[in-house]
Amino acid sequence: MDLSTRYLGFTLPHPLVPGAGPLADDLDTVRRVEDAGAPLIALRSLFEEQVVGEQMALARALDMPSESFAEATHWFPDAQDLAFGPEEYLEHLGRVKAAVRVPVVASLNGTTPGGWVDFAHRIAQAGADAIELNLYDLATDPATTSATIEARHVEVVREVRRRIRLPLAVKLSPFFTALPNFAAALVEAGADAIVLFNRFYQPDLDLETLEVKPELRLSSPVELNLRLRWLAILHGRVRAPLAVTGGVHSAQDAVKALFAGASAVQVVSALLLHGPAHLAKMRGDLERWLEEHDYPALAPSIGSMSHAHCASPHLIERANYVRILHTWRPG
Ligand SMILES: Cc1cc2nc3c(=O)[nH]c(=O)nc-3n(C[C@H](O)[C@H](O)[C@H](O)COP(=O)(O)O)c2cc1C
Repeated sequence: MDLSTRYLGFTLPHPLVPGAGPLADDLDTVRRVEDAGAPLIALRSLFEEQVVGEQMALARALDMPSESFAEATHWFPDAQDLAFGPEEYLEHLGRVKAAVRVPVVASLNGTTPGGWVDFAHRIAQAGADAIELNLYDLATDPATTSATIEARHVEVVREVRRRIRLPLAVKLSPFFTALPNFAAALVEAGADAIVLFNRFYQPDLDLETLEVKPELRLSSPVELNLRLRWLAILHGRVRAPLAVTGGVHSAQDAVKALFAGASAVQVVSALLLHGPAHLAKMRGDLERWLEEHDYPALAPSIGSMSHAHCASPHLIERANYVRILHTWRPG
């Protein structure tokens, strides 16, 4: 069964890839992920604030006025609490590159245009085969419009694109009013792929201590439906391959994402829960599922259900919404 797919300029032997996260933090796990058949290795993100923080430290050492760095890194965790500082990140990237045969995707997380994006160039020099840019941002200022935020993000993509020739994926949150328009603008600015969606860190409140409870829950397949909807809407409307991240735990989840329009399917929580070998199991299950359902190859089926999901997305969405609300009866 031909499971190959094109993503970020690579022909991958199958679409199930590890997503950005801690799975590439140590070389043993990296090798286990590769042994499980991962077509690429994805590193966790290096954050804009880390790069800016290092530039500020350097400026202090050189006795430059640190106010020249507009973005305060005041709230950011101390360097010793983070997995990698910028220099360590580059060294680690080099070690991972040397340890595996598959492409290595580095990840940057940032939201504002500025000098920090030079780091993309250093990542390229350190041997990355592609970069994923995670635009994780939270709009909190009532005076800032969505147009301003989107323009800023597009500018970040444009600036990163200017510095690297490598394939560039852009990972988004679902909280955009006009996602198809925004995604098209990102592709125009130089994104080679769009990754849907990052998960917001959603802290709980502890009512006994009246404190904010930091919480990082692993995902569940319930989160996939939101992605299916937007994959189907963007597929064919944006001139770049799409990847899914969020809620894929089984081969069946992967099939849904592929049929909705994903060219690559990222998996993190399921691998953290079950170990890297789960990727090999998912690959086997995916092949079996396609065979049992008489699909000769994967590629022609990518996006095959995007039309069914949203032929006239706006009208169908409204009609389904009305139907579901009006036909619901107490059980
Ligand atoms: C422990 C942990 C660390 C993560 N670190 C990163 C990161 O550094 N950069 C990033 O873009 N996403 C990061 N993610 C998000 C994942 O890449 C992925 O988008 C998210 O977990 C949803 O996919 P899943 O349902 O397969 O877990 C992290 C997720 C987890 C659970």
